[in-house]
Amino acid sequence: MLNFRESAQFDKNVSVIFVTKSQIQNKKFNFSSLSIQNAIVELFKTKNFSGEKDAAFPLTIDKKIALVVGVDDSKDANMTGLRVTVRKAILSSYLKNAKTVELIPHQNDDAIINAVIEGILIGTYQWKKYIKADKDVPETKQITLICKNKPAYQEAIDICAGVNFARDLVNDNADIITSEYFEKTIKTLVKGQKNITLKILNEKELTAQKMGLHLAVNKGSNKEPKLIIVKYSGGKTSEPYTALIGKGLTFDSGGLNLKPSGHMETMRSDMSGAAAVVGTLKNVLKLGIKKNLLFVCGLAENAIGSCSYKPGDVFVGYSGKSVEIGNTDAEGRLVLADAIAYTIKNYKPAQIIDIATLTGACVVGLGFDYAGLLSTDNKLAAALMKSADATDDRTWRLPLYAEIKDAMKSHYADIKNVSNIKGGGAITGAEFLRQFTEKTPWAHLDIAGPAFVENAGRWYYSYGGTGFGVRLLTHFLKEK
Ligand code: BES
Ligand code: ZN
Ligand code: ZN
Repeated sequence: MLNFRESAQFDKNVSVIFVTKSQIQNKKFNFSSLSIQNAIVELFKTKNFSGEKDAAFPLTIDKKIALVVGVDDSKDANMTGLRVTVRKAILSSYLKNAKTVELIPHQNDDAIINAVIEGILIGTYQWKKYIKADKDVPETKQITLICKNKPAYQEAIDICAGVNFARDLVNDNADIITSEYFEKTIKTLVKGQKNITLKILNEKELTAQKMGLHLAVNKGSNKEPKLIIVKYSGGKTSEPYTALIGKGLTFDSGGLNLKPSGHMETMRSDMSGAAAVVGTLKNVLKLGIKKNLLFVCGLAENAIGSCSYKPGDVFVGYSGKSVEIGNTDAEGRLVLADAIAYTIKNYKPAQIIDIATLTGACVVGLGFDYAGLLSTDNKLAAALMKSADATDDRTWRLPLYAEIKDAMKSHYADIKNVSNIKGGGAITGAEFLRQFTEKTPWAHLDIAGPAFVENAGRWYYSYGGTGFGVRLLTHFLKEK
């Protein structure tokens, strides 16, 4: 699909040439063919090609097409925009029938090449399982990127595969991507790998372990609730474990507090946190990251029926705390509360990061481009924000504070799963989770906004799951 070559040869079906306006004006190009350089300069003079961001013009050179594409070099230019430009170029109609493509970036520094790779591999991902293929269009293109073949670029390719792996899990039907499907997927990933111990708790084991919150959420479902824990001992025996815990609601109907039309259609994506954990696991194995890690997926389905858990009910979770169900649609925090409590008690990790499509309130506050980050540990939060900046999985920190717990008071249980006051839903969701983290340093990523794209073409994403969190978490684990 994607390979590297040091110099441009203009021998493929199409050569895509990225240029900035100032490169044309100064006649300083990132390839050596003088005839093509002159052709671009002449084209620019005709004003048919402005050199502006995303402008594209096809030149014919020796019966081949060279698509000249403008790259932003204004003060607002950033790597998100570059990924968008790459995506647009590769998906442009000029390349529709091309089987082989040469891509010449405007510059060769690492950040630019990384963004170009992601623009190609993340930007051109499409969920096509249920679409009849156009027979005339090649399924995949062989893209040759003109740059040195560095190990870091190979890693970038691998990381994108992890991102798209998570997207595939999000995009298919909820009744296909069940807890059982997660189990099979994880088993396939870890098969034959060293340093792995797998623990799977099904309904029977969850019952024996008194994980009453996780079980309550799944009561209306005909599918098995599962807590899956992959223990990966890639580091030294003396080194502590970091736990990644993903919310895996394979479908969230809201339960008896049923979601209205317009809010339920995308709820197969409510397992995006667990999908991000699985995508990160794939990357960790592929890159051979030398850390001690726990990959935890809390899997359930929030369905309706006479067996469903009910508003006003009280359930006792693994921690022993009782929870009044104020709203059956606040189910993710219940599954996560048990997953967090179980992971701490049985594995004693040094730090925990949970990732979850937890609250609509987070989307109201931050929109679709940023995940909420809430943490009890400034060092952990800072490290995550650094990885967020480096990877374009953007996060914004929200406050976490003890007083908000008062708003979750219950008359007859230790705590209620929703707040008695309006406002601050993302913060109350996180504060609820904090009750189960004990003294373990913890960070919570609320990805309800960025996990799924409803408007086709936001940034460099197609409609559907984005794989948000895979790049962030992989980068975080690669550090140090
Ligand atoms: N899965 C939803 C949150 C969500 C909303 C994810 C929009 C993605 C897009 C979650 O389980 C939920 O329904 N939360 C409720 C909590 C409320 C009842 C306190 C919400 O945000 O409305
Ligand atoms: Zn819900
Ligand atoms: Zn949910």
